[in-house]
Amino acid sequence: MSGGSVAALIPAAGSGTRLGRGPKAFVEVAGMSLLARSVARLAPHVGEVVVALPDGMSLPSGITARSIPGGATRQDSVRRLLEATDAEVVLVHDAARPFLPARVVWEVTAAAREVGAATAVLPVADTLVRAGEDGGWGQYVPREGLWAVQTPQGFRRETLIHAHARAAAEGFAATDDAGIIARLGGRVALVPGDARLFKVTTPGDLALAQAVAAVWDAGVWDAGDDDA
Ligand code: C5P
Repeated sequence: MSGGSVAALIPAAGSGTRLGRGPKAFVEVAGMSLLARSVARLAPHVGEVVVALPDGMSLPSGITARSIPGGATRQDSVRRLLEATDAEVVLVHDAARPFLPARVVWEVTAAAREVGAATAVLPVADTLVRAGEDGGWGQYVPREGLWAVQTPQGFRRETLIHAHARAAAEGFAATDDAGIIARLGGRVALVPGDARLFKVTTPGDLALAQAVAAVWDAGVWDAGDDDA
């Protein structure tokens, strides 16, 4: 890949509380863990893959990556990952999003190089409503211009290190990295994501992931969609 080295950073140190199956990254879908799936999707496109794991856990064999101990929060885990590589560009990707099309990896990487920060996003399809004080229908929220944020998110590494340091110093907590950049006034490019890139969070998501895996693993998606 031209234009400087790229590393994929995978925060996978969560406990998976909402799924209730132990550390989520190690949960298997059709015989392959979420982590192994995510690593396999990224490895062909980057110089190295670094994974943050729960304390005391090591990488199962067959996963081509380096691992480090994660932190108490996702943000801490990403901060540690940023210190564990010297790549010029980093792609931060949640282990819990195993169905990652190559097109998304290419486009996020290209936009990160050009703009400094980029994230995969999906247009919001549902009608949106903000609940009122009684918990019922409060106010309609127009969905035009609204996007759901996915990963991978790509950054020039120095830019993200700086933003994380500021966030830590100011006690700002975020659930993603692009938001940390945006908070400081930095530009974040929005790149079309993919519906299959949903995050496996609840037991219902796991059932959906089993169904997606049956098609994904058979390699029968549109040819232009994927190739790696
Ligand atoms: O809990 P949630 O699904 O939002 O976590 C998003 C990602 O962040 C997961 O892949 C999880 O493993 C990771 N994480 C982490 N370190 C933590 C908490 C979460 O790497 N302390």
